[in-house]
Amino acid sequence: MDKIVSLAKRRGFVFQSSEIYGGLNGCWDFGPLGVELLNNIKQAWWQAMTYRDDVEGLDASILMHPKVWEASGHVENFTDPMVDCKQCKARYRVDLLFESLPKKSKKHIEDKIKVTLGADSAEVNEITINNYFSDNIDHFTADITCPTCGNTGTFTNARKFNLMFKTYMGAIESEDSIAYLRPETAQGIFVNYGNVKESTRQKLPFGIAQIGKAFRNEINTKNFLFRVREFEQMEMQYFVKPGSDDELYNEWKEHRIQWWVDLGIKRENLNFAPHPADKLAHYAKAAVDIEFKFPFGFGEIEGIHNRSDFDLSQHTKFSGKKLDYYDEQNKERFIPYVIETSAGATRGFMAFLCNAFDEDEAPTSEGKSEVRTVLHFHPKLAPIKCAVFPLVNKDGLQEISQNITSDLQKTFKVFYDDSGAVGRRYRRQDECGTPFCVTVDYDTLKDDTVTIRERDSMQQERIHKDKIKMYVLEKMSL
Ligand code: GAP
Repeated sequence: MDKIVSLAKRRGFVFQSSEIYGGLNGCWDFGPLGVELLNNIKQAWWQAMTYRDDVEGLDASILMHPKVWEASGHVENFTDPMVDCKQCKARYRVDLLFESLPKKSKKHIEDKIKVTLGADSAEVNEITINNYFSDNIDHFTADITCPTCGNTGTFTNARKFNLMFKTYMGAIESEDSIAYLRPETAQGIFVNYGNVKESTRQKLPFGIAQIGKAFRNEINTKNFLFRVREFEQMEMQYFVKPGSDDELYNEWKEHRIQWWVDLGIKRENLNFAPHPADKLAHYAKAAVDIEFKFPFGFGEIEGIHNRSDFDLSQHTKFSGKKLDYYDEQNKERFIPYVIETSAGATRGFMAFLCNAFDEDEAPTSEGKSEVRTVLHFHPKLAPIKCAVFPLVNKDGLQEISQNITSDLQKTFKVFYDDSGAVGRRYRRQDECGTPFCVTVDYDTLKDDTVTIRERDSMQQERIHKDKIKMYVLEKMSL
C-alpha cells in the first residue's frame, strides 16, 4: 500500500487535501493523472449503465429538502456508535475498536467474553467475540486500555454519532434552516422517480442512474481513499414490479460484477459478500457487497441492494405525493420495488489503482534487465492513452511527432515527450499506465510508419502513422 500511495502522489494521481496546511483528514484531491482516471471510470460506468433503453440519467442537487433525510431514515438511523477516551480525547468507532486494542487488553476482554458465551460453544469465534464486544461495549469500559494513550478505564459509554454533515441554508442559523450534505446520491433519484417516469414515459422495469458527490462524517477514516469523508458514488435504482425483484436482484448482481471484470479486475480478486439477515440496513430486503482484494484484505467496492418499496413508500408518506405505478396491462396500481446498484467511484479508483500496480522486469539498452514499476490499466481507463516520442531531436522528427500528437489530441489524451533516452521515456509512461508509446524515427521520413509499443507485453510493431488513432481506439473499446 505504501508504494502505491507514494506513486499516486509522485506521479500526480492523488494529493492530500489542503496539504500545505497539514492536510485535512478524510479528504483527497485528484491530480492531473488522477482526474483523468476518475473521469474515465465514471464515463465507463455511465456508458455501461445508461446507454441502454431501460435506464435514464439524472444529476440531482447535493442539498435537498431536510424532510428527505427524515423520510429516508438517515436522521434516525444513519449513526455509528462511538466511544471517546476521556484522557487523550481519541475517538473510536465501536465496531473497529476491538481490533485496535493492545494485545493484553484484547486478551483480557476475549477471555471474559468467552466465559459469558461459553468457551466450548462452537459458535464462539473471532467474529462472535467482536460482535459481542460491540453490542455490549458499555460493560467493558472499565477493562479497555486506550490504544492511543495506554490508559485503562478512561472510555466513555457509547454514544450515537450521526454521519451526516449538517449545515444551514440562508442567513439565519436555526432549527428551521438545517440542511444536510447528502450522504448518498440515491435519495435524489427516489424524489425524482415521478418526474423521470412522466417525462420519459418509461414502463417498468426501468432504472435511473446518477454519479455524484456524497459526504459522510466518518469517525475513523482509513486506508487512503477507502473510507473518506467526501467521495463520489455511481448509483442506479432499478424500479421493478414486486414479485420480479428477486430475479432482477440476481441479474444485476451478475451484471455488475462483470463490469469490474471487463475493466481488468481478475474475478478471483473479487468476491460476493452477502449481508446476513440480522445485519441488513434499515431499508433492505437483501443485500450483497462486491468486494475487491486490496493489499490490506477484501473490502467492499459496490453494494447491490433489494430496497423493497421502502423508499418510495416513505417519500409518499412524508411528502403526501403519490409515488406509485399504474400497470395498464393488468389494471393494477402498486408501489414499485427497487433494486439498487451502488458503486464507489472513489473507492473504485483505489481498486483499479491497486489492481493495476505491478513491479516486473524490463530489458535495458545494455541488454540487462531492470525492475520497472508499471500500472496495467485497461486502455479505456488509462489516464493517457498514447505517448509520442521523436527518436532524436533533429532532422524534422520533432515536427512530425508534434503533428501526430496534435492530431491524436482531438480524440484522446496524448503525451509528447522528447527528453532523455527512449528507454527512460518508456519507464515514465509505464509508471502512469500509458498503454501505447509511438516512436518517430528515420524510417518515418521514408515511409510514414512509426513504432508502436504496447505497455504490458513491451512488444513493438510498425504501423502507418495514419492508423495510430484507430489502433488505439480499438484497444480502448471493451
Ligand atoms: N445508497 C446505498 C449506499 O450508499 P453504501 O454501501 O453505504 O450504500 C455504497 O455505499 C458505496 O459507496 C460503497 O460500496 C463504497 O464504494 C462507497 N462508499 C461508502 N462510504 C464511503 C466512504 N466513506 N468513503 C469512500 N467510499 C464510500
